[in-house]
Amino acid sequence: MIFRTIPSLRAEIAAWKAAGERIGLVPTMGALHEGHLSLVNEARKTCQRVIVSIFVNPRQFNNPSDLALYPRTEEDDIALLTGTDAVFIPSVETMYPAGYCTAVHVGGLSTRLEGAHRPGHFDGMATVVTKLFTITGADCAFFGEKDWQQLQIVRRLVADLALPIEIIGCPTLRERDGLALSSRNRRLTPQAREIAPQLHSIMQETANSIRQGTPINEALNTGLSALKNAGFAPIDYLDCCHAETLEPAERNNDPLRLMAAVALDTVRLIDNIVI
Ligand code: PAF
Repeated sequence: MIFRTIPSLRAEIAAWKAAGERIGLVPTMGALHEGHLSLVNEARKTCQRVIVSIFVNPRQFNNPSDLALYPRTEEDDIALLTGTDAVFIPSVETMYPAGYCTAVHVGGLSTRLEGAHRPGHFDGMATVVTKLFTITGADCAFFGEKDWQQLQIVRRLVADLALPIEIIGCPTLRERDGLALSSRNRRLTPQAREIAPQLHSIMQETANSIRQGTPINEALNTGLSALKNAGFAPIDYLDCCHAETLEPAERNNDPLRLMAAVALDTVRLIDNIVI
């Protein structure tokens, strides 16, 4: 069932809650692919009711042309979600009515990596996610590990604000050639699509090199040169961080994550892998 207003969705959810059903939320910006559907499938395993939200959140786009170019495929998305208990598709005015002036800022974590390159992005994301949590009152929400920094920020805000929701991270889905699934991939030209999988292979080589004891900076410099030679430009970052705090890696026994953001033509690609 499709819901476009907050009261109509809440009325439906109230009935589910009254019946004691566990409710899962999968927040999306549409342009759905197998990665999103894997989150829905994961939600189905533990929840009697699954809500998918589709909202291209203007507040998390720091670049107006990126917002304008973001793929919008509502009809196809709805067709992929037949069988989902609720698809919530609010308008911008529903989420941000006249006079709206509240924002959620998660300090520290939001300022590094993506935050440094996309000012305001994580404030917009944290704000809309918090609002989706409070609108739905879901028991749990499912996020892809592809957006690793986003997942850490959402976990932090839920802990800090004591929100009564469980956050479940789900593994990144990849094409056979290693390219992480993303709604942005459909904007790659055929030539860029050929180059794109090298992001993952170069990251794997870099992670292996760190695991084998190469000093982190040396491994990162080799990885950066490889990315440049492959044709990625600009390269926003290739960084090795503490997996949860996203502070620069210090101790080898810390949980580490290799994080990258690059572009091909105008398409920005991000990826991350465990070290
Ligand atoms: O990952 C996304 O698609 C978005 O950042 C999210 C979580 C749906 C919030 O707009």
